[in-house]
Amino acid sequence: MQISENIYRIGGAYLVIGDKTALIDTAPRGGESALVHEIEEILRDRQLDYVILNHTEPNRSHGLSAVLERYPDAEVMATVAGIRNLKEMQSRPFRERAAKDNAVLELGNGISLRFIITPNLSWPDSMVTYEENSGTIFTCDLFSDGENLMTYPDYVENALKRLSELKITAVMPAEGDILRGTDIQKAFDIYGELLDKHREQEKNKTALILYSSHYGATREMAECIRGELESAGVTVTMCGADEDTVPNINTFSAIIAGTGTYERGASESVMRALCGVNAVLMRHKPFFTFGSHGWSGEGANILHAMLVSLGMKPFSKPFTSIFNMSDETRERLKRHTRKFAEFILN
Ligand SMILES: Cc1cc2nc3c(=O)[nH]c(=O)nc-3n(C[C@H](O)[C@H](O)[C@H](O)COP(=O)(O)O)c2cc1C
Repeated sequence: MQISENIYRIGGAYLVIGDKTALIDTAPRGGESALVHEIEEILRDRQLDYVILNHTEPNRSHGLSAVLERYPDAEVMATVAGIRNLKEMQSRPFRERAAKDNAVLELGNGISLRFIITPNLSWPDSMVTYEENSGTIFTCDLFSDGENLMTYPDYVENALKRLSELKITAVMPAEGDILRGTDIQKAFDIYGELLDKHREQEKNKTALILYSSHYGATREMAECIRGELESAGVTVTMCGADEDTVPNINTFSAIIAGTGTYERGASESVMRALCGVNAVLMRHKPFFTFGSHGWSGEGANILHAMLVSLGMKPFSKPFTSIFNMSDETRERLKRHTRKFAEFILN
């Protein structure tokens, strides 16, 4: 589809035509022959000079092999990290040029492509490509339908700050509509709101107590923990993994996870809920696990190991009780929880 005098859209890719020609991004698996066919239709007997990969996730980069098979002399451009990934992904050597931050590639006929490196949106090797004269920006996953990129809020904030300094008249994402006019500011504002929400969440100290208890002993521990956290000023959400809907675990400042021990294991419902921990968002956030058991007591250790392996920070060893809590154990659990509350509040 022709977008402007010099730009064509082919699925999630864009073909830019100056004196030289550049394809920005390619196609996912299954889309490669249609992509090559359309490029041939547009270019006819012209060469494809450059293939620019804004990032190397296969949904955008898979079609590179087919494109290079048809246009073997095309020079492939991506960030340094992108080129390294592409070398691992491609079975054949290719002409390469690393796109440095802020470097400009002149295509001639009034087309200058500037590369702006935007790490982690959505892969570490990501960049956006900006056509300076028309103010067109090719953003790949950023501003794309179905991508919110908020796994890396700091990187989103930095990228938006840089992009907001540019004169932008059209945003060309990989998925969804091309944005022009007031829609561009609206798209920035949506990210602004997501960032504000994230900052707000960071500020509020919130804890999720997630537990499973077949006979009530672990629930009693959960309730004791809730009472102590709340009186210390922590906002608590308590969730029985077997009966309640588990909230988005990645929005909490701390997790306290508990289970009885059943057949040397932990409750499946709590383990399943903990699979929802996003290891990027929850990295280094504090947790402790707890639980009641009868004899061998593996349950709370299993939850502890899961959260450690997901990169969260253990506040302590698991806190356990043999069957129902004694008065002494209850007092110890209260003291333990108060220390934890202090830790997350400071
Ligand atoms: C089916 C079943 C299997 C159990 N297996 C173990 C076990 O392997 N090791 C252990 O220490 N306790 C075991 N227990 C004991 C429980 O962990 C203990 O009763 C604990 O208090 C249960 O916590 P809850 O009341 O929160 O469910 C088992 C209990 C049941 C009902």
